Amino acid sequence: MTTVPKFVIGNWKMQARHEYGLELARGVAQGLRDNPPPSHLHTILCPPFTQLAGVHSELDEIGLPNEQLALGAQDCYPAASGPFTGDISPQMIKALGASYVILGHSERRQNHGETDAVIRQKVKAATAAGVTPIVCIGEHLAERNEGRAASVLASQIEGSLTRGFRGIVAYEPVWAIGSGITPSHEELQRKLTLIRALLPMRLMTDDIRVPVLYGGSVTSVQAPSIMSIEAVDGVLVGSASLEAQSFLDIITAAAEATTPQLTS
Ligand code: 13P
Repeated sequence: MTTVPKFVIGNWKMQARHEYGLELARGVAQGLRDNPPPSHLHTILCPPFTQLAGVHSELDEIGLPNEQLALGAQDCYPAASGPFTGDISPQMIKALGASYVILGHSERRQNHGETDAVIRQKVKAATAAGVTPIVCIGEHLAERNEGRAASVLASQIEGSLTRGFRGIVAYEPVWAIGSGITPSHEELQRKLTLIRALLPMRLMTDDIRVPVLYGGSVTSVQAPSIMSIEAVDGVLVGSASLEAQSFLDIITAAAEATTPQLTS
């Protein structure tokens, strides 16, 4: 029997100026050092590429174990190296201390035309480099309103996850991102249960619990109710991760709302 890990991940997007990002990382690391959450709760900071090395040395200085506070990137190229101007490989982010990478965020699907097939290639490349992928899926508002959310999620899972996938999945309904709106408790429970039912086909097993997170307008106010849903293994936080205290409040809320669960 092992404890089910829970995750609180901060996605800073393109939003923290360099010095501020370092200060933010230091603030979060100091907060966790002074008030350590239970060991089943893992925190991951995902700054922009340019801050990975700096944030890594800030975290190093505080010296928390990687399971407690880890570093992630927000994207990577689907190859180890090559003539790809402006791109960053998973090996490169790993060399800067990142052990996770967010892939397929809706902002990349939308702004960079990333398809499920491209995301699947990135998942493959990250996994090969020993970097754990955090794959985002989620429907648009129109798809939800037309009753197509289930089929969108099914095709994103089928298309963007590799066979035998081992990583993290984040359900981020596009309409909840940056809108201040979160799905109701019932809707979230229904969607997460659906995602859990769809996953074994890609995982090629029923026996592994891939962490499934929720993201979209998470603050410390909603975090306890979201984290109390049995199918939810954590939260992916945007805006509220840009201030150390508000992010630490989410971590505290997540810790309080989740008692360690055991899985076989
Ligand atoms: P917000 O928390 O700002 O809505 O962003 C969510 C998100 O996109 C995290 O990846």
